[in-house]
Amino acid sequence: MEPLDPDKLPGHLAIIMDGNGRWAQQRMLKRIVGHQRGAETVKMVVEQAHLLGIRHLTLFAFSSENWSRPAIEVRALMTLLKKYIRQETARMMRKNIRYNVIGNRGELPDDVNQALNDAIAETAGNTGMVLTLALSYGGRQEISMAAARVARDVAGGRLKADDVTVDVFGSYLDTGGLPDPDFLIRTSGEMRISNFLLWQLAYTELYFTEINWPDFTINELHKALADFQARERRFGKTSDQITKRSDPLNA
Ligand code: IPE
Ligand code: IPE
Ligand code: MG
Repeated sequence: MEPLDPDKLPGHLAIIMDGNGRWAQQRMLKRIVGHQRGAETVKMVVEQAHLLGIRHLTLFAFSSENWSRPAIEVRALMTLLKKYIRQETARMMRKNIRYNVIGNRGELPDDVNQALNDAIAETAGNTGMVLTLALSYGGRQEISMAAARVARDVAGGRLKADDVTVDVFGSYLDTGGLPDPDFLIRTSGEMRISNFLLWQLAYTELYFTEINWPDFTINELHKALADFQARERRFGKTSDQITKRSDPLNA
């Protein structure tokens, strides 16, 4: 396995977990079997991220657009989600992990929301990793809803239009209070963002792998993190400014 520098891990790792359906179809299995196997990969990644000391792990589990899938698949995904939350909460407690959810909770079935509320409440005092699940989440929806809230606050005199800075606007997003992702992994070979964290990914390092999510292993995770560690994040500066930070002439 690739050696990792513990001081250069992403503080916030985000993952678009893709390829469950294809994984199953390639094996003549039903798509839901792929989702079930994908849930096993989720357990592994949560465990590894926790062991590595990553502070924030954000997983794209169900998009706003995924509601357009066949009803039977949507229903199976919701059932799987509820089962996962209920089963894993005890482990989250042992690992001091806190649950967080972003997305349009109002669109989720009541029983899923109940399971989420219970898990969020139970883990609320945990101080270790924050596990954020993006559910019924779409970046454009999140941004437009935040804009509506900003507009309401301006209209109500609680906020001045001139005070709407990048930071203030960011605080109106579902992710208000979370740092931006440092690293984004997408599995299954698709090279797109699919409406995930559009605002927050502005300076995130992106990583795409052909591996389907159920086949994503510890080794693949370490390989991805090693790739992240080899990158130079410049945030618009020159390479010299980044590498010679201690040299005042180059600052
Ligand atoms: C990702 O796998 C899981 C969800 C989007 C819920 P997919 O179900 O998208 O798998 P593919 O892309 O069809 O293979
Ligand atoms: C993105 O995957 C959403 C999740 C992983 C939950 P999709 O499979 O829905 O993305 P597209 O439609 O192929 O872009
Ligand atoms: Mg997909």
